[in-house]
Amino acid sequence: MSDAARFEVTLLPYDLRFPAHADESLLKAALRALAPVRSSCRNGTCRTCLCRLESGEIAYEIEWPGLTREEKAEGLVLPCVARPLSDVVLRYER
Ligand code: FES
Repeated sequence: MSDAARFEVTLLPYDLRFPAHADESLLKAALRALAPVRSSCRNGTCRTCLCRLESGEIAYEIEWPGLTREEKAEGLVLPCVARPLSDVVLRYER
């Protein structure tokens, strides 16, 4: 069991809620909760896991996740390499 801070993740449009630790990726937390999210490389390059951060703050585990500056500004995130810094709301396209 991790001693790291725990935050709540809300996944839209599924309206799923589950906990995520500050020291794990949002994708890992989502998979543990059996959330219906896609992934492949799990290292921030393939963009299979791409979704939108509707609210909350994240920090990336790697320096250059596979997103453009514009995509980041739009709120797109790669949860396989993103850790929560607060409660977060993520939105996926179905
Ligand atoms: S699974 Fe490949 S970028 Fe997230």
